[in-house]
Amino acid sequence: MENKSAQVVIITGSRQGIGKALALSYARAGARVVLNARNEAKLQVTAAEFKAAGYEVLAIAGDVSNWAFCEELCQKTHQHFGRIDVIITNAAIATRGAMEDLEPNIYQKMIDVNILGSVYPAKAAIPFLKETKGSIQFISSIASFYGIPYNGIYSGTKNAINSIAQSAHNELKPYGIFVGLTYVGFTQNETTKEILDTDGKKVVLPQRENVKKQSRDIVAQSIIRQIQKRKFKKVLTPTGKILSLLARMAPGLIRLIYKMNLNKIKESSS
Ligand SMILES: NC(=O)c1ccc[n+]([C@@H]2O[C@H](COP(=O)([O-])OP(=O)(O)OC[C@H]3O[C@@H](n4cnc5c(N)ncnc54)[C@H](OP(=O)(O)O)[C@@H]3O)[C@@H](O)[C@H]2O)c1
Repeated sequence: MENKSAQVVIITGSRQGIGKALALSYARAGARVVLNARNEAKLQVTAAEFKAAGYEVLAIAGDVSNWAFCEELCQKTHQHFGRIDVIITNAAIATRGAMEDLEPNIYQKMIDVNILGSVYPAKAAIPFLKETKGSIQFISSIASFYGIPYNGIYSGTKNAINSIAQSAHNELKPYGIFVGLTYVGFTQNETTKEILDTDGKKVVLPQRENVKKQSRDIVAQSIIRQIQKRKFKKVLTPTGKILSLLARMAPGLIRLIYKMNLNKIKESSS
């Protein structure tokens, strides 16, 4: 039986990874959850898992870099559940490789998915969030503190999200809408996580070795606590906290660290 007072939470990019962990944590806490991803068949597999566990979910397949789809995502959610309380703009893609090697159209794709694909769903949700005095949560990365070699466009798109979230936080406060920003650190990726290679083809990202990673559940719980407390900024992982401090106080030290580890970073990006 539907609990009409339960929170309604949209999580973009939630058929796997951190998005799915967020959806699961919210569903376990009694929220009604909207799952989204481009791959409809895989999205339905995730939705079926949630339904089998007795959770109330709506799966809406589509690409968040498309404005018309983002309007549809919010309208369909409102029609189905009658309200929107939280939207987490989690969907994003990653790539790897040196600037000189990356196919030029990868830059456009990264900007479309990571920047527009965060702003569009957030913007489309504003009229509905005004009714509930709800929340928009942007998902950034510790890679945004300082451009990582061989990860320039990923660092850059996440850096853009930081500025957009800062602006939106103050713009939307008068309406009672909370805007938050999480800088996610190294996380245990799904074994199926794919990134764009230098030629633009998708490749499975090997598990990162030699770095301490947070579990997806811990990441999800941190983000949900942040939204509950309405705390604007949260940096995850000790590495993230050190990078954040160095980027402000001693950026030259980060340059030196990256310079000394250039080959290691290049190898781990290839
Ligand atoms: N994993 C990490 O270590 C890490 C570190 C820092 C920050 N982050 C950030 O955390 C978030 C989640 O990362 P993750 O590692 O969990 O990702 P992931 O495992 O690659 O999952 C990404 C999800 O987004 C969906 N997606 C991708 N492009 C989309 C689009 N245009 N429209 C709608 N859905 C789309 C994917 O499904 P489809 O392919 O079917 O669309 C998938 O469900 C991202 O914002 C990422 O930048 C992750």
